[in-house]
Order: sequence, then structure tokens, then C-alpha cells
Amino acid sequence: MTDSPPADAPTEPTLPVARPYSPGLEGVVAGETSLSYIDGAAGRLLYRGYRIGDLVERGTYAAVAHLLWTGEWDAGQRLPTAEIPRPVMDVLRALPSEAKPMDALRTAVSAWGSTQELPWPPTVEQARALTAFSPSALAAFARLRSGKDPIDPDPSLDLTTGFLYQLTGERPDPGTARALDAYFIVGAEHSFNASTFTARVITSTRSDVASAVAGAIGTMKGPLHGGAPSEVVDQLAQVGSVEHAEEWVRDALARGERLMGFGHRVYRAYDPRAAALRKVAEGMEHKPDWLQMAIEVEDVALRVLAEKHPERPLRTNVEYYAAPVLMGVGLAPDLFPATFSLARHAGWTAHALEQAANNRLIRPDVNYVGPEERDLPG
Ligand code: COA
Repeated sequence: MTDSPPADAPTEPTLPVARPYSPGLEGVVAGETSLSYIDGAAGRLLYRGYRIGDLVERGTYAAVAHLLWTGEWDAGQRLPTAEIPRPVMDVLRALPSEAKPMDALRTAVSAWGSTQELPWPPTVEQARALTAFSPSALAAFARLRSGKDPIDPDPSLDLTTGFLYQLTGERPDPGTARALDAYFIVGAEHSFNASTFTARVITSTRSDVASAVAGAIGTMKGPLHGGAPSEVVDQLAQVGSVEHAEEWVRDALARGERLMGFGHRVYRAYDPRAAALRKVAEGMEHKPDWLQMAIEVEDVALRVLAEKHPERPLRTNVEYYAAPVLMGVGLAPDLFPATFSLARHAGWTAHALEQAANNRLIRPDVNYVGPEERDLPG
């Protein structure tokens, strides 16, 4: 017990005064990157200065991943999928068939890390090995859960083609392969989003790249980050046909629902990734029947959203056209978020390299809002 201070003694200093806090770290600059630049007002996205539309038109995922990892543009880069180490395959076989694909992928990446030497600092070779491993793991899980045997990688195929081959057992036609590759390019990197920030925090402790990516997958699993394209599929199924589009859109908004695939925290203009994917979807050999419907529903949705929210530009986002591309290449909707994670491996690992190259442990401050210092009762 402390003695009571005399009545005229200066009061004890209280706990320090809180400093300004931005919930969700909105508006806080938490790092520097040369990997990508988002200009939400003008609808621009650049990877190392190159426009996303040009990268989709003229690049491949292999070349884009190499660009992100090294800063060098080499259109001839190749990136086949990799073998699954035996202990990792054992882990995949042990998972329940009803496991969520994101849980399976996160587990596979973690198990993979336990089979590798991943000394600090992370390297391009480590980034490449992990990015090449994960599509094989997701394809294997998708087959195992429906009682089929996993398929070995075909080193003559590039990553996205190889992924589809290992998933279905068939080599996709060039249009289908191209469409998925384009999706991987637009999904490869998007600055300091929540999962990328997670990967950087983990890397900043000098942990390894598998831990960084496993953590990032856990972050992307949340519905606020990685969930929208399968909801676009559900919504288009509810619309049913173009004739019902206007009525459906108005009713949905009247019920207070959000139109999936529209609006964005950063983009106020048309999401450049949506524009690039729409082009690719329109060029697909086996277009899903409802691609035309999606295009027409988009026109209606944009018109009605502009009418309802004249104060706030609500435009098409990347998820809207991700849906027809992913459906069109034959993926089950519950694989969409994990496939998005495969695409984002290039960005996550590139951020791990960038963080490590100029590392400082990420350890922000927090405002304490609990009780003043006090004595335990009794
Ligand atoms: N459909 C209908 N109305 C929408 C909308 C949408 N997709 N997106 C935003 N709005 C409306 C909100 O209802 C809100 O209106 P109010 O002020 O009358 O309540 C206003 O626009 C602002 O919304 P807010 O949630 O503050 O915008 P945000 O910038 O935080 O939201 C998203 C960004 C992406 C969360 C939001 O646009 C959304 O939920 N979109 C649908 C889901 C989706 O496509 N997600 C993938 C993003 S890549």
C-alpha cells in the first residue's frame, strides 16, 4: 500500500495522452514500394511503371512475376508448376474433403515451408519455387476431395496452363489458357492491401517467405478481401436474363443490397483490371453463355447506380469480369478465392523481397484506452 500524498502535493502524472489514430490505418502511409501504383481517380494501375492493360495484352504471368521480383522485363520468361514434396502430399491427403480450398492452400504452403531451406533474406529463387508449387497443391486438393488422383506437373506447360491441366487432366485450348493467364496478371499485385501488408509484417521479423505467404492467405480468406467473384456468379444467376436485369437491379437496391462487382475503396473510375479482363472474356473461344448477359447487366447496373448515387461514382470492379473468366475456364466457384491467392503469390513474394531489401521491423504504436494504473483488489 502506498501512503496517500499530502493534499497540496502535485498530482501524479496520468497515462500519456493519446495521439491521433486512423481506424483501419486508412490514409496512413505505412511503407514505400516500387512494385505497383494505383491511381483510383483516373482508373490507372501500373506494375513497376507499366500499364496493366499493356501487360495483359503483351505479357504473360511468368513475365509479370519476373518483372515484380526483379524489376526486369523479359517477355520470354517461363514458369512451369512444380512437384509437390511427398510430406506435403500426405498432408493434403489427410485433409477432410469438405475443407475450404483456402484452408487447404494455406495448410499446403505451411507444410511446404517445413520441407524447404528458406534462409534469410528471401530470394527470387524462393519466390519462384513457392509461386510454382502452390498451383500444383490447389489442383491436387481439388482432385483429392472428389476422389481423383493428383496429376504430376507437365514442365512443358506454363503456370496457368499447367494449373488447369493438373486440375482437369486436359490441356486447355489456347483461348482458355490465355484468359486465365490474363486473370493471373491482373491479380498479381495491388499495393498495400491487407494480405500484402500481412506478408510484409511477417517478413519484417526475418521470418521466411512460406510463413509470409501462409499468413497472407489467411488474411485473404476473409470475405472483406477475397470473396466477391463467386457472389457475382450467384447474382447473375438470380438475374436470370437480360429482360429481368433492370427490375432485378432496382429491387436489389431497394432491399438495400449491394451489387457485387461494383464500387471500390480506391477506384472511383472504371477499374482498369475490369476493362482488361472484359476484353479477354470477350475473346474467349468457349464463352460462358451468360457473358453477353453479364455485359448487358453491367450497362443496366451502371445506369441505375449512377441514378441512385449521383454523389458517388460507383463503377465496375475487377471481380465483375473475374467471374465470367473463372467460370469460363471451368473453375468451381468455391475455388475462386484460392485461385486469386495463387495469382497474388507473385505480389506477396515480391513484397517480401522488397521488405527484406530495406528491412525494419514493423511495429506500430497503439493508444492505450484501458483503466489508469491501479491496485489489485483485496
Ligand atoms: N452496390 C450498391 N451500392 C453501393 C455499392 C454497390 N456495389 N458500393 C457502394 N455502394 C453505396 C453504399 O451503399 C453507400 O451508400 P449510402 O451512403 O447511401 O449508404 C455508398 O455507396 C458508399 O459505400 P461505402 O461502403 O462507404 O463505400 P466503400 O468505398 O467503403 O466500399 C466496397 C467499397 C468495395 C466495399 C463496396 O463498393 C462494395 O461493397 N461493393 C460490392 C462488393 C464488391 O464488389 N467487392 C469487390 C471489391 S474489388
